[in-house]
Amino acid sequence: MTELKIGAIASGSGSNLESIIKSCKTGILKNKASVEILICNKIGAFCMERAKNHNIPYELIESNKYLHLPREDYDKKMIEVFRKYSCELIVLVGYMRLVSGMFIEAFNGNVMNIHPALLPSFKGMHAHRDVLDYGVKVSGCTVHFVDNQSDHGPIIIQKCVPVYDTDNEDTLGSRVLEWEHKIFPKAIELFCNKRLQIKERLVIIDGEFDL
Ligand code: GAR
Repeated sequence: MTELKIGAIASGSGSNLESIIKSCKTGILKNKASVEILICNKIGAFCMERAKNHNIPYELIESNKYLHLPREDYDKKMIEVFRKYSCELIVLVGYMRLVSGMFIEAFNGNVMNIHPALLPSFKGMHAHRDVLDYGVKVSGCTVHFVDNQSDHGPIIIQKCVPVYDTDNEDTLGSRVLEWEHKIFPKAIELFCNKRLQIKERLVIIDGEFDL
């Protein structure tokens, strides 16, 4: 079986990137997938260190320099890089920007994102803060296919975690992150094994799976 070539985009620490890299090297994605390249849009972001430590190539394409231009101009640069590495699946691992419809089409819709809340609740950049402000008793994380709206495409896997009265953004964030590191590799594995079928908003998963 040929390995699925993954391209990753990150803006920050890159712990989800690292969990996917490790799953490819020694975990559930071994011999099934490999991370070929990381694109980072933020100067100084730690995700690039993590890529370097795992001998994964990375490119910094600073989105700040494209702010006055249409989003497609930035996305064309990313498409060029991902095509150079023959990437078949793109994973957004803490990428704090939208991608264009053109970008999604360039990869036939094979673009996944992770969000640190139970979508469609608590979209946006400050999910944990919003969860705590609202006072909900459960939160969680979501892996979904990306469409042209923010935190919106068809949902692949969700996992719940409790929210405690004593939580702050850090304690809740790390409880959620632990599960993020499991559900994203699992969603990729289901994709590799061709067990995902999209029917409008619904992702039908062939068979059962464990996390
Ligand atoms: C993760 O919690 C991810 O779900 C979130 O950013 C964090 C990145 O952490 N993504 C979003 O909020 C996207 N809207 P990481 O850099 O350690 O993987």
